[in-house]
Amino acid sequence: MARTVLNGPDDNPRLGALLRRLAGSASTNIGFPAAVDLDYRTLGPFLGHLLNNVGDPAFDPTHPNHTKEFEREVLAFFAGLFRAPEPWTGYVTSGGSESNLSALYLARSRYPDGIVLHSAAAHYSIPKATHLLGMPTVVVRTQPNGEIDYDDLVGHAELHRRRPIIVVANIGTTMTEAVDDVAYIQDLLADVGVRHRHIHSDAALSGIPLALSDDPPGFDLADGADSICISGHKFLGTPMPCSVVIARHHDPDHRGDVVAYTGSPDTTITGSRNGLAALMLWAVLQQLGRSGLRARAESGRNMAQYAHQRLHDIGWPSWRNPHALTVVLRTPPPAILARWPLPTLAGLSHFICMPGVTRRQVDQLTAGLAAVTPAVTSGCASH
Ligand SMILES: Cc1ncc(COP(=O)(O)O)c(C=O)c1O
Repeated sequence: MARTVLNGPDDNPRLGALLRRLAGSASTNIGFPAAVDLDYRTLGPFLGHLLNNVGDPAFDPTHPNHTKEFEREVLAFFAGLFRAPEPWTGYVTSGGSESNLSALYLARSRYPDGIVLHSAAAHYSIPKATHLLGMPTVVVRTQPNGEIDYDDLVGHAELHRRRPIIVVANIGTTMTEAVDDVAYIQDLLADVGVRHRHIHSDAALSGIPLALSDDPPGFDLADGADSICISGHKFLGTPMPCSVVIARHHDPDHRGDVVAYTGSPDTTITGSRNGLAALMLWAVLQQLGRSGLRARAESGRNMAQYAHQRLHDIGWPSWRNPHALTVVLRTPPPAILARWPLPTLAGLSHFICMPGVTRRQVDQLTAGLAAVTPAVTSGCASH
Protein backbone atom coordinates (compact mmCIF):
# COMPACT_ATOMS: atom_id res chain seq x y z
CA MET A 1 0.00 0.00 0.00
CA ALA A 2 1.38 3.41 -0.97
CA ARG A 3 1.92 5.59 2.05
CA THR A 4 1.10 9.29 2.17
CA VAL A 5 4.36 11.22 2.40
CA LEU A 6 3.87 14.12 4.78
CA ASN A 7 4.92 17.62 3.74
CA GLY A 8 8.21 18.79 5.18
CA PRO A 9 9.72 22.25 5.74
CA ASP A 10 10.15 22.83 1.98
CA ASP A 11 6.43 22.33 1.33
CA ASN A 12 4.78 23.65 4.48
CA PRO A 13 5.50 27.29 5.43
CA ARG A 14 4.80 26.73 9.13
CA LEU A 15 7.37 23.93 9.25
CA GLY A 16 9.81 26.02 7.22
CA ALA A 17 9.45 28.91 9.66
CA LEU A 18 9.99 26.59 12.62
CA LEU A 19 13.16 25.17 11.09
CA ARG A 20 14.51 28.68 10.47
CA ARG A 21 13.71 29.71 14.03
CA LEU A 22 15.54 26.68 15.43
CA ALA A 23 18.56 27.23 13.21
CA GLY A 24 18.61 30.95 13.96
CA SER A 25 18.60 30.54 17.75
CA ALA A 26 21.27 27.81 17.86
CA SER A 27 24.31 30.10 18.10
CA THR A 28 23.15 31.84 21.30
CA ASN A 29 21.30 28.93 22.94
CA ILE A 30 23.90 28.02 25.58
CA GLY A 31 21.78 28.43 28.69
CA PHE A 32 20.14 25.03 28.44
CA PRO A 33 22.15 21.83 28.65
CA ALA A 34 21.95 20.11 25.28
CA ALA A 35 25.10 18.97 23.46
CA VAL A 36 25.09 20.05 19.82
CA ASP A 37 28.22 18.30 18.53
CA LEU A 38 26.49 15.06 17.47
CA ASP A 39 24.37 14.58 14.36
CA TYR A 40 21.78 11.81 14.66
CA ARG A 41 20.19 12.31 11.25
CA THR A 42 21.80 9.17 9.78
CA LEU A 43 19.27 7.24 11.86
CA GLY A 44 16.51 8.87 9.80
CA PRO A 45 15.52 5.60 8.03
CA PHE A 46 14.20 4.32 11.35
CA LEU A 47 11.55 7.06 11.24
CA GLY A 48 9.85 4.77 8.73
CA HIS A 49 8.95 2.35 11.51
CA LEU A 50 7.14 2.50 14.81
CA LEU A 51 9.66 1.58 17.53
CA ASN A 52 7.83 0.78 20.75
CA ASN A 53 9.77 -0.82 23.63
CA VAL A 54 6.62 -1.47 25.64
CA GLY A 55 7.13 -2.89 29.14
CA ASP A 56 10.14 -4.42 30.87
CA PRO A 57 13.34 -4.16 28.78
CA ALA A 58 14.39 -7.73 29.66
CA PHE A 59 11.39 -9.21 27.79
CA ASP A 60 10.96 -8.85 24.04
CA PRO A 61 7.39 -7.82 23.33
CA THR A 62 4.98 -9.84 21.20
CA HIS A 63 5.30 -7.32 18.34
CA PRO A 64 8.51 -7.03 16.25
CA ASN A 65 8.68 -3.21 16.19
CA HIS A 66 11.04 -2.70 19.09
CA THR A 67 14.73 -2.08 19.85
CA LYS A 68 14.96 -3.87 23.19
CA GLU A 69 18.12 -5.75 22.26
CA PHE A 70 19.78 -2.32 21.80
CA GLU A 71 18.17 -0.96 24.96
CA ARG A 72 19.63 -3.83 27.00
CA GLU A 73 23.11 -2.93 25.74
CA VAL A 74 22.55 0.71 26.67
CA LEU A 75 21.51 -0.32 30.17
CA ALA A 76 24.54 -2.61 30.53
CA PHE A 77 26.80 0.28 29.48
CA PHE A 78 25.42 2.56 32.16
CA ALA A 79 25.33 -0.17 34.81
CA GLY A 80 29.05 -0.59 34.12
CA LEU A 81 29.78 3.13 34.06
CA PHE A 82 27.99 3.67 37.37
CA ARG A 83 29.42 0.45 38.92
CA ALA A 84 26.09 -1.18 39.67
CA PRO A 85 26.52 -4.52 41.42
CA GLU A 86 24.51 -7.51 40.14
CA PRO A 87 21.59 -7.83 40.18
CA TRP A 88 20.56 -4.45 38.83
CA THR A 89 17.54 -3.21 36.96
CA GLY A 90 16.65 -0.18 34.85
CA TYR A 91 15.17 1.10 31.62
CA VAL A 92 15.21 3.94 29.10
CA THR A 93 12.62 6.48 30.22
CA SER A 94 10.97 9.51 28.64
CA GLY A 95 13.17 11.94 30.60
CA GLY A 96 14.74 12.76 33.94
CA SER A 97 11.38 13.35 35.59
CA GLU A 98 10.18 9.82 34.80
CA SER A 99 13.52 8.37 35.92
CA ASN A 100 13.22 10.18 39.25
CA LEU A 101 9.61 9.04 39.65
CA SER A 102 10.58 5.46 38.86
CA ALA A 103 13.51 5.52 41.31
CA LEU A 104 11.36 6.91 44.10
CA TYR A 105 8.64 4.37 43.31
CA LEU A 106 11.25 1.63 43.80
CA ALA A 107 12.40 3.26 47.05
CA ARG A 108 8.82 3.40 48.30
CA SER A 109 8.27 -0.28 47.41
CA ARG A 110 11.36 -1.09 49.45
CA TYR A 111 10.48 1.21 52.36
CA PRO A 112 6.72 2.00 52.35
CA ASP A 113 7.11 4.04 55.57
CA GLY A 114 10.23 5.87 54.40
CA ILE A 115 10.64 9.63 54.57
CA VAL A 116 12.31 11.50 51.71
CA LEU A 117 15.01 14.11 52.34
CA HIS A 118 16.18 16.28 49.45
CA SER A 119 17.80 19.66 49.24
CA ALA A 120 16.14 22.92 48.29
CA ALA A 121 18.15 22.78 45.05
CA ALA A 122 16.59 19.48 43.92
CA HIS A 123 14.93 19.52 40.51
CA TYR A 124 11.19 20.23 40.62
CA SER A 125 10.51 16.67 39.47
CA ILE A 126 11.54 15.40 42.91
CA PRO A 127 8.81 17.11 44.99
CA LYS A 128 6.39 16.30 42.17
CA ALA A 129 7.29 12.61 42.37
CA THR A 130 7.02 12.46 46.18
CA HIS A 131 3.67 14.24 45.94
CA LEU A 132 2.40 11.74 43.35
CA LEU A 133 3.65 8.85 45.44
CA GLY A 134 2.31 10.28 48.69
CA MET A 135 5.72 10.12 50.37
CA PRO A 136 6.43 12.40 53.33
CA THR A 137 9.20 14.82 52.42
CA VAL A 138 11.61 17.16 54.18
CA VAL A 139 13.49 19.89 52.34
CA VAL A 140 17.08 20.33 53.50
CA ARG A 141 18.98 23.63 53.25
CA THR A 142 21.73 24.14 50.69
CA GLN A 143 25.17 25.69 50.94
CA PRO A 144 25.82 28.84 48.87
CA ASN A 145 27.28 26.76 45.99
CA GLY A 146 24.07 24.70 45.76
CA GLU A 147 25.39 21.58 47.52
CA ILE A 148 23.29 20.08 50.30
CA ASP A 149 23.96 21.43 53.80
CA TYR A 150 25.25 18.30 55.55
CA ASP A 151 24.66 19.70 59.06
CA ASP A 152 21.02 20.40 58.25
CA LEU A 153 20.73 16.93 56.71
CA VAL A 154 22.09 15.35 59.91
CA GLY A 155 19.67 17.40 62.01
CA HIS A 156 16.67 16.11 60.05
CA ALA A 157 18.03 12.55 59.92
CA GLU A 158 18.42 12.52 63.72
CA LEU A 159 14.81 13.59 64.16
CA HIS A 160 13.59 10.72 61.94
CA ARG A 161 16.26 8.10 62.55
CA ARG A 162 13.83 5.37 63.57
CA ARG A 163 12.21 5.49 60.14
CA PRO A 164 13.74 4.44 56.84
CA ILE A 165 15.30 7.51 55.25
CA ILE A 166 15.40 8.02 51.49
CA VAL A 167 17.79 10.76 50.36
CA VAL A 168 17.76 12.24 46.90
CA ALA A 169 21.28 13.48 46.15
CA ASN A 170 21.78 16.08 43.43
CA ILE A 171 24.55 15.08 41.09
CA GLY A 172 24.66 18.36 39.26
CA THR A 173 21.97 20.80 40.39
CA THR A 174 20.02 22.46 37.60
CA MET A 175 21.18 26.00 38.40
CA THR A 176 24.80 25.66 39.62
CA GLU A 177 25.76 22.01 38.85
CA ALA A 178 26.55 21.38 42.52
CA VAL A 179 27.20 17.76 43.54
CA ASP A 180 26.10 16.19 46.84
CA ASP A 181 28.56 13.65 48.26
CA VAL A 182 26.74 10.29 48.36
CA ALA A 183 29.50 8.39 50.17
CA TYR A 184 29.59 11.07 52.86
CA ILE A 185 25.78 11.07 53.17
CA GLN A 186 25.84 7.28 53.71
CA ASP A 187 28.41 7.76 56.50
CA LEU A 188 26.42 10.56 58.12
CA LEU A 189 23.18 8.55 58.11
CA ALA A 190 24.97 5.51 59.57
CA ASP A 191 26.57 7.70 62.27
CA VAL A 192 23.22 9.02 63.48
CA GLY A 193 21.83 5.48 63.60
CA VAL A 194 19.60 5.36 60.52
CA ARG A 195 19.43 1.61 59.88
CA HIS A 196 17.26 1.59 56.79
CA ARG A 197 18.43 4.03 54.14
CA HIS A 198 18.13 4.44 50.41
CA ILE A 199 19.91 7.02 48.28
CA HIS A 200 18.86 8.07 44.80
CA SER A 201 21.41 10.03 42.76
CA ASP A 202 19.69 12.45 40.43
CA ALA A 203 22.58 12.63 37.97
CA ALA A 204 20.46 13.80 35.02
CA LEU A 205 22.84 16.65 34.31
CA SER A 206 26.31 15.53 35.37
CA GLY A 207 26.37 11.75 35.75
CA ILE A 208 28.15 10.97 32.48
CA PRO A 209 30.82 13.70 32.48
CA LEU A 210 31.50 13.16 36.19
CA ALA A 211 31.90 9.38 35.83
CA LEU A 212 34.48 10.09 33.13
CA SER A 213 36.50 12.64 35.08
CA ASP A 214 39.84 11.72 36.67
CA ASP A 215 38.77 12.31 40.28
CA PRO A 216 34.97 12.01 40.49
CA PRO A 217 33.23 12.71 43.78
CA GLY A 218 31.43 9.74 45.36
CA PHE A 219 28.06 9.54 43.63
CA ASP A 220 27.53 6.17 41.95
CA LEU A 221 26.29 2.75 43.09
CA ALA A 222 29.72 1.62 44.30
CA ASP A 223 29.80 4.81 46.40
CA GLY A 224 26.52 3.89 48.09
CA ALA A 225 23.73 5.07 45.81
CA ASP A 226 20.84 2.63 45.35
CA SER A 227 19.65 4.16 42.12
CA ILE A 228 20.85 6.73 39.61
CA CYS A 229 19.49 8.48 36.56
CA ILE A 230 21.10 10.33 33.68
CA SER A 231 19.61 12.33 30.89
CA GLY A 232 20.03 11.41 27.21
CA HIS A 233 19.21 14.79 25.70
CA LYS A 234 21.73 16.69 27.77
CA PHE A 235 25.33 15.42 27.53
CA LEU A 236 24.48 12.95 24.75
CA GLY A 237 22.40 15.50 22.83
CA THR A 238 19.71 13.12 21.54
CA PRO A 239 17.17 15.08 19.49
CA MET A 240 14.32 13.90 21.67
CA PRO A 241 14.09 13.92 25.48
CA CYS A 242 15.05 10.61 27.07
CA SER A 243 16.83 9.32 30.15
CA VAL A 244 18.15 6.14 31.75
CA VAL A 245 17.49 4.91 35.27
CA ILE A 246 19.59 2.15 36.85
CA ALA A 247 18.93 0.68 40.31
CA ARG A 248 20.03 -2.11 42.58
CA HIS A 249 17.50 -4.91 42.19
CA HIS A 250 16.42 -5.54 45.76
CA ASP A 251 13.80 -8.08 44.73
CA PRO A 252 15.09 -9.79 41.55
CA ASP A 253 12.58 -12.63 41.72
CA HIS A 254 9.64 -10.29 41.50
CA ARG A 255 8.89 -8.55 38.21
CA GLY A 256 5.18 -9.21 38.28
CA ASP A 257 3.21 -11.13 35.70
CA VAL A 258 3.78 -10.88 31.98
CA VAL A 259 0.98 -8.81 30.45
CA ALA A 260 -0.43 -11.27 27.95
CA TYR A 261 -0.87 -9.00 24.97
CA THR A 262 2.43 -7.04 25.29
CA GLY A 263 4.57 -10.05 26.24
CA SER A 264 6.38 -8.06 28.98
CA PRO A 265 5.89 -7.48 32.70
CA ASP A 266 4.62 -3.99 33.53
CA THR A 267 7.69 -2.76 35.47
CA THR A 268 7.97 0.66 33.84
CA ILE A 269 6.10 3.88 34.68
CA THR A 270 4.81 4.32 31.14
CA GLY A 271 3.62 1.37 29.09
CA SER A 272 4.66 2.18 25.52
CA ARG A 273 8.21 3.53 25.42
CA ASN A 274 10.33 5.27 22.81
CA GLY A 275 12.40 2.63 21.00
CA LEU A 276 14.05 5.25 18.76
CA ALA A 277 15.50 7.00 21.80
CA ALA A 278 17.02 3.71 23.00
CA LEU A 279 18.46 3.14 19.51
CA MET A 280 20.00 6.63 19.41
CA LEU A 281 21.60 6.09 22.80
CA TRP A 282 23.01 2.79 21.58
CA ALA A 283 24.36 4.43 18.41
CA VAL A 284 26.24 7.15 20.28
CA LEU A 285 27.59 4.83 22.98
CA GLN A 286 28.86 2.20 20.57
CA GLN A 287 30.45 4.78 18.26
CA LEU A 288 32.16 6.96 20.87
CA GLY A 289 32.71 4.48 23.69
CA ARG A 290 34.02 5.63 27.04
CA SER A 291 37.13 7.23 25.53
CA GLY A 292 35.14 9.35 23.06
CA LEU A 293 32.72 10.44 25.77
CA ARG A 294 35.61 11.21 28.11
CA ALA A 295 37.22 13.47 25.48
CA ARG A 296 33.95 15.37 25.06
CA ALA A 297 33.58 15.81 28.83
CA GLU A 298 37.13 17.07 29.05
CA SER A 299 36.66 19.59 26.25
CA GLY A 300 33.45 20.86 27.90
CA ARG A 301 35.26 21.37 31.21
CA ASN A 302 38.12 23.15 29.43
CA MET A 303 35.64 25.42 27.70
CA ALA A 304 33.94 26.21 31.02
CA GLN A 305 37.33 27.06 32.51
CA TYR A 306 38.09 29.29 29.54
CA ALA A 307 34.71 31.03 29.86
CA HIS A 308 35.20 31.60 33.57
CA GLN A 309 38.62 33.09 32.88
CA ARG A 310 37.25 35.39 30.17
CA LEU A 311 34.53 36.66 32.51
CA HIS A 312 37.13 37.20 35.21
CA ASP A 313 39.29 39.14 32.73
CA ILE A 314 36.49 41.60 31.98
CA GLY A 315 35.52 41.89 35.65
CA TRP A 316 32.12 40.21 35.35
CA PRO A 317 31.39 38.29 38.59
CA SER A 318 31.27 34.55 37.93
CA TRP A 319 32.16 31.18 39.43
CA ARG A 320 31.86 27.46 38.79
CA ASN A 321 31.69 24.35 40.93
CA PRO A 322 34.55 21.82 40.67
CA HIS A 323 34.15 19.62 37.55
CA ALA A 324 31.22 21.73 36.31
CA LEU A 325 30.43 22.53 32.70
CA THR A 326 28.16 25.25 34.11
CA VAL A 327 29.43 28.80 34.58
CA VAL A 328 27.39 30.85 37.06
CA LEU A 329 27.45 34.58 36.50
CA ARG A 330 25.87 37.75 37.75
CA THR A 331 22.65 38.21 35.79
CA PRO A 332 23.32 40.26 32.65
CA PRO A 333 21.08 43.23 31.77
CA PRO A 334 17.87 42.57 29.78
CA ALA A 335 19.42 43.59 26.43
CA ILE A 336 22.00 40.79 26.74
CA LEU A 337 19.40 38.27 27.98
CA ALA A 338 17.20 39.08 24.99
CA ARG A 339 19.97 37.72 22.74
CA TRP A 340 21.34 35.05 25.09
CA PRO A 341 18.47 33.22 26.85
CA LEU A 342 20.13 32.26 30.15
CA PRO A 343 18.18 30.68 33.04
CA THR A 344 18.07 33.20 35.85
CA LEU A 345 17.23 33.02 39.54
CA ALA A 346 17.81 35.51 42.35
CA GLY A 347 20.35 37.63 40.50
CA LEU A 348 22.34 34.69 39.15
CA SER A 349 22.31 33.26 35.64
CA HIS A 350 24.23 30.46 34.00
CA PHE A 351 25.38 29.02 30.73
CA ILE A 352 26.57 25.47 30.19
CA CYS A 353 29.59 24.48 28.12
CA MET A 354 28.09 21.29 26.76
CA PRO A 355 30.05 19.68 23.92
CA GLY A 356 29.60 21.83 20.83
CA VAL A 357 29.78 25.19 22.63
CA THR A 358 32.59 27.13 20.95
CA ARG A 359 35.13 29.76 21.96
CA ARG A 360 33.49 32.04 19.46
CA GLN A 361 30.19 31.85 21.38
CA VAL A 362 31.94 32.45 24.69
CA ASP A 363 33.89 35.36 23.21
CA GLN A 364 30.75 36.92 21.75
CA LEU A 365 28.87 36.72 25.03
CA THR A 366 31.86 38.10 26.92
CA ALA A 367 32.25 40.95 24.43
CA GLY A 368 28.60 41.88 24.98
CA LEU A 369 29.10 41.84 28.74
CA ALA A 370 32.35 43.80 28.50
CA ALA A 371 30.42 46.57 26.78
CA VAL A 372 28.16 46.96 29.83
CA THR A 373 30.72 46.13 32.53
CA PRO A 374 31.22 49.72 33.74
CA ALA A 375 27.62 49.62 34.94
CA VAL A 376 28.48 46.71 37.26
CA THR A 377 29.01 47.83 40.83
CA SER A 378 28.40 44.86 43.09
CA GLY A 379 27.01 41.34 42.98
CA CYS A 380 28.03 37.73 43.25
CA ALA A 381 31.65 37.25 44.14
CA SER A 382 34.02 35.76 41.60
CA HIS A 383 35.83 32.74 43.06
C1 LIG B 1 19.06 17.63 37.87
C2 LIG B 1 17.88 17.35 37.00
N1 LIG B 1 17.05 16.35 37.31
C3 LIG B 1 15.98 16.06 36.56
C4 LIG B 1 15.68 16.79 35.44
C5 LIG B 1 14.43 16.46 34.70
O1 LIG B 1 14.61 16.12 33.43
P1 LIG B 1 13.44 16.14 32.32
O2 LIG B 1 13.22 17.58 31.97
O3 LIG B 1 14.07 15.34 31.25
O4 LIG B 1 12.24 15.50 32.89
C6 LIG B 1 16.52 17.85 35.06
C7 LIG B 1 16.23 18.66 33.87
O5 LIG B 1 16.61 19.77 33.70
C8 LIG B 1 17.65 18.15 35.86
O6 LIG B 1 18.48 19.16 35.58
